[in-house]
Amino acid sequence: MKFFVDTADVAAIRELNDLGMVDGVTTNPSLILKSGRNILEVTKEICDIVEGPVSAEVVAQKAEDMIREGEHLAKIAPNITVKVPLTWDGLKACKALSSAGHKVNVTLCFSPAQAILAAKAGATFISPFIGRLDDNNFDGLDLIAQIREIYDNYDFQTEILAASIRTVNHITDAARIGADVITAPPAVIKAMANHILTDKGLEQFNADWAKTGQKIV
Ligand code: E4P
Repeated sequence: MKFFVDTADVAAIRELNDLGMVDGVTTNPSLILKSGRNILEVTKEICDIVEGPVSAEVVAQKAEDMIREGEHLAKIAPNITVKVPLTWDGLKACKALSSAGHKVNVTLCFSPAQAILAAKAGATFISPFIGRLDDNNFDGLDLIAQIREIYDNYDFQTEILAASIRTVNHITDAARIGADVITAPPAVIKAMANHILTDKGLEQFNADWAKTGQKIV
């Protein structure tokens, strides 16, 4: 399973990347806003840190404008993946950009039907949003399972990039279902290291070690 970090926070990306935890990065207009940085500058900086795909999202509504923006974003670095929304125009842009040799991430996917269209349009990645479905009383993980089944039935090469991840369980459940990639905020990735029994065990070991009066070095 590949790990993408869902952020435009360069310091957080660098920390996880130094640990070998980053196979790619996803950004979106909200994350760019949160970073307070210029999209072209911050995306370039991320691309210089991370070897894998870095998704940068178009903001136009019409296909021809999305294609123009996508071509511009793709010039930032060779590892740019152009992110387009799952609209009819977004699918047209996906087809054009993927045919021109660009990697394309089709985002804001909320149904298996949408995922089929993205694969047919040549998407490199499909991004089903688990958390936003759960927030609205749908089953986000069930969507991942449905897309996995359909893509496997027809050997679609589009990779399932489980997005809108809120919890550690979202990551492990997506892994069990067979999502190719997860993209999660840095805090959720770091939370994967936590377990209450690890903390409790360490506390006991530390207390017992202090009683030995020994030192290792
Ligand atoms: C995916 O590429 C999106 O950037 C992201 O996962 C959205 O997550 P959110 O629903 O927490 O905003």
